[in-house]
Amino acid sequence: MLTLRSPAKVNLFLRVLRRRADGYHEIASLFQAIDLSDRIHFSLAEKDHLSSTDPKLPLDKNNLIWKAADLFRQKTHQKFSLNVQLEKNIPTEAGLGGGSSNAATTLWALNRLLETKIPVETLMQWAGEIGSDVAFFFSGGTAYCTGRGEIVRPLPPLPPQTLTIAKPPYGLSTPAVYKSLDLTLLSQRHPEEALNHFYSGQPHYFNDLEAAALKIKPELAAFKKSVLDQGYPIVMLSGSGSSFFCIGSGLPYSFINSSQANWY
Ligand code: C5P
Repeated sequence: MLTLRSPAKVNLFLRVLRRRADGYHEIASLFQAIDLSDRIHFSLAEKDHLSSTDPKLPLDKNNLIWKAADLFRQKTHQKFSLNVQLEKNIPTEAGLGGGSSNAATTLWALNRLLETKIPVETLMQWAGEIGSDVAFFFSGGTAYCTGRGEIVRPLPPLPPQTLTIAKPPYGLSTPAVYKSLDLTLLSQRHPEEALNHFYSGQPHYFNDLEAAALKIKPELAAFKKSVLDQGYPIVMLSGSGSSFFCIGSGLPYSFINSSQANWY
């Protein structure tokens, strides 16, 4: 049995550059892994089986874990069956890359379990066939991603930072958010300059998908305001949402007792 951590990500900035002829969007984004993670137990078995601690998660072939395993079978011509137990902590439809991360972890696990010694660069290419965000999870944790998101330039670690994830009770579908994007409202910021700002200690967080997410889920505006009202200086949509990451600390509370506060 092999047990691996499968981390979430946030997009410290996300610039949409244009819509492509194939329907995807050209993006430029600073991806950062965070220590909110799933744990996945893998073992070779008699037949394929996936179980999850999240009862709402699809366990059939639509789960990206099976897309990754099937791709591995197809590319390597190896015959195997896999037992997978997924401890799900990363919320789904949240823009945190949980499914993509699980797919990357599956490719990594199979390469180890089957001792196939596929180079990481090749695994990253295969990852791009599963989904736009999958290859990022083979980087060291910080990367500048372009193309659909699958062209990954690993970067040195940024200074350590704590953050809070705020997730409303509903999720958002990535294709729906991209579809509702108004290309005339993109930020026009220069992504390489934005990148330099992060490395010169003047980070500027932005996400071109936020307006599109707010358009299809108007109640997200009130949710964001309620998080801002808790005092976080930066509250930014991660990926296509629906979660926000919050940098800095919220309003502190201190001990009170009945002589200071008239609670009756
Ligand atoms: O690549 P992935 O399967 O994660 O993408 C899901 C959907 O999100 C795509 O089918 C597309 O509609 C949209 N998408 C996009 N541009 C990107 C990434 C995703 O339009 N760069």
